[in-house]
Amino acid sequence: MNHFTKFDNKELGQTLIDLALDYKKDPRKDQQKGQGKRIGCVFLNPSLRTRVSTQLAASNLGVEPIVLNMDKEGWALEMRDGEIMNKGTVEHIKDAAAVLGSYFDMLAIRAFPSLTNREEDINDFIFSQFVKYSGKPVISLESAIRHPLQSLADQITIHENIKEKRQPKVVLTWAPHIKAIPHAVANSFAEWTLGMGHSLTITHPEGYELDVRFTKGATIETDQNKALEDADFVYVKNWSSFNDYGKILSTDPSWMLTEKSLSKAPNANVMHCLPVRRNLELSDEILDGNRSLIQKQAENRIYAAQSVISMLLDS
Ligand code: CP
Repeated sequence: MNHFTKFDNKELGQTLIDLALDYKKDPRKDQQKGQGKRIGCVFLNPSLRTRVSTQLAASNLGVEPIVLNMDKEGWALEMRDGEIMNKGTVEHIKDAAAVLGSYFDMLAIRAFPSLTNREEDINDFIFSQFVKYSGKPVISLESAIRHPLQSLADQITIHENIKEKRQPKVVLTWAPHIKAIPHAVANSFAEWTLGMGHSLTITHPEGYELDVRFTKGATIETDQNKALEDADFVYVKNWSSFNDYGKILSTDPSWMLTEKSLSKAPNANVMHCLPVRRNLELSDEILDGNRSLIQKQAENRIYAAQSVISMLLDS
């Protein structure tokens, strides 16, 4: 594994899940492994879980994490090659990324999409520029189109909470939101869930179809009640329109997940990556009730990151 930016294959996914669960039992068992190594965690956007869990994961392995909030503390970056830099940008990405690459053994980067330029976003332009110019292994802390550490933590959480011998029914449901939200979590959840061999139903209002590159093999159902029937895991997430790129087409409150919506899914566990807008995306009764796996997912972010950093140290 040279970088960790997306789902690769089921065997690697299972290896990462198993390693994460080993670390969960004994987080510091490999504390000597990363002695003398440093990871630079570069944030172009806000974060709570990703920032802290990645630092904890690195520390557990003896790797020193250094965080740079580039959006607030760094120079304004120019991303385009060949640009005459006579406007607002101060430093070119090729210089900044190369410098960071020379300071660290590996880099971890968060770079959200613009949601205004679909072509650039689907090609993960900003994230790719970091990978191109840093010359070091790069971990995605969420790019324009994927959030693989979140998805690995989600798969660990599903693995831990499967109760029946049969394959679980996993449902990804769109939820209302007041802001235009990226597709990364939904894309990645679909990519990892299908990649790990689970059946996946995706439910959303008309117009919220995700990029088919991530949903091939999933059942798409625009009737949320029908999609939720007999679900074992319900992943709740908002995303903006992909076809009408970055637009909010609906804020229909009937899509908020409540106990009533789950009346035909008595055993459903409910998941969300957080942060969540309570009583807009998901009701308090669910978030604070027995179905909720949100805190388990957040805790598993540590061990997901630890397994990835550990495997990169081996390569
Ligand atoms: N789920 C997640 O990535 O949380 P943060 O944005 O707080 O890092």
